Amino acid sequence: MEKSIPKRENWGSRIGFIMAAAGSAVGLGNIWRFPYLLGENGGAAFLLIYLVFVVFIGISIMIAEFAVGRNSGSAAVGAYKSKSGKWTFAGVIGVLSAFFIMGFYPVVGGWSLAYIAQTFTGLLSNPEAIGGTFGAFIGSTTAPLIWMIVFLALNVFIVARGIAGGIEKAGKILMPVLFGLLVLIAIRSLTLPGAAAGLSYMFKPDFSAVTGQTYLAALGQAFFSLSLGMGCMITYGSYLNKKEDLATNAVLVTGMDVGVALLAGLAMFPAIFALGMAPDAGPGLVFVVIPSVFAAMGGIGPILSVIFFVALTVAALTSSVSLMEVAVAYFIDEKGIERKKAVYSVASAMGVLSILSSLSLGSMSGVTLFGVGFFDFFDILTDKIFLSIGGLLLSVFVGWFLDKEMLRKELTNGGTVKFALFEAWHFLIKYVIPVAISIVAFYGIKSIEQTSLMIFGLLMIVVLAVFSKKL
Ligand code: PHE
Repeated sequence: MEKSIPKRENWGSRIGFIMAAAGSAVGLGNIWRFPYLLGENGGAAFLLIYLVFVVFIGISIMIAEFAVGRNSGSAAVGAYKSKSGKWTFAGVIGVLSAFFIMGFYPVVGGWSLAYIAQTFTGLLSNPEAIGGTFGAFIGSTTAPLIWMIVFLALNVFIVARGIAGGIEKAGKILMPVLFGLLVLIAIRSLTLPGAAAGLSYMFKPDFSAVTGQTYLAALGQAFFSLSLGMGCMITYGSYLNKKEDLATNAVLVTGMDVGVALLAGLAMFPAIFALGMAPDAGPGLVFVVIPSVFAAMGGIGPILSVIFFVALTVAALTSSVSLMEVAVAYFIDEKGIERKKAVYSVASAMGVLSILSSLSLGSMSGVTLFGVGFFDFFDILTDKIFLSIGGLLLSVFVGWFLDKEMLRKELTNGGTVKFALFEAWHFLIKYVIPVAISIVAFYGIKSIEQTSLMIFGLLMIVVLAVFSKKL
């Protein structure tokens, strides 16, 4: 895998890389998805399972992805391919996942942008009407499409500028802003009378509601939230210089990701309980409950609401640029296409998928694939199958097909930095993680309602494994 491409782009600085990687990890996954999954899966029990997966699986996979990326100097497909053409499909699954996630992510990013505007027009000031406003908005045809396209255009603007000048700069400025905003809202939420009920919901586990599906949801969320299992961190790692301490960076990025998810929970649940609202509102949680909470607060409520949706948009943007970059890097590295051209083509394809997703919540709600609309199709396929299987493939690849001493050298920068837990990490990657993911995926997929969709997803992977050697 010792390949060196002299002109390959690099991150400008260590902090720039960490902010960009954290920017990729911290996104809708933390602020939109994590709280509603927690709410739907019984609170603290889900949190506990999630944290165990993050610590024992997430961090190890992130270290492995950084190592594979930097060592090969290639993005997802190239990194696998440099070992053997038989592995190309594992990278291709990643690129496909990027397209699929970007088939719904910009839609939600667009909602978030729209909410910034709607707060100003006073649409969100009547707490009782917000649920209906949200439903009517996402189900309508043109408005969500326009906001989605604006969101996608922001992505194009950043990714077309490349690594150090675009993605890195955006992360470095926007991530600290996001963090500060969330702290502010959490303080307000925690000081409301009755906030304690929200805290005990988040931190007192009730295991009676836990099923195979809960574990799969927690695993899928761990991969989704940490941007793992689809080559994103391989790609970001490929732009890293040889002096960076990969393991420490992975721990830092993971810590920030978990920190923001918990902070989002602390911003939301105490307020939800204090104002007597339901925690299990599903994907509408952020968009219905949060504005209601703020509206009911009066006073500075609307201001906090604007701040909140600016933060959500920022978080979504630094993640979606990383998703777009996975696909763009593939076309640059493997097909020799120039960056700008790659960005425009990739963004157009993602735009088409997002149009289908957005319309599937309204005028096209009758059109289903394997029993679900386009939005859910892309979401379930990536979250419940592709990312976990992608993580499984990566751990088998690293644990069984890459030379252990090469990995040791990569992770200690040739012996110049310490990685005391190297043996433990290698054992986890080689034995524990493949088995753990297999068990969770098996029971989770078995207990899921959309069986035909699951079978379709698995078949797709098999077909890719057979036919994608030349991609
Ligand atoms: N981690 C991002 C989030 O939490 C989503 C993402 C997934 C980004 C996979 C890149 C790769 O929103």
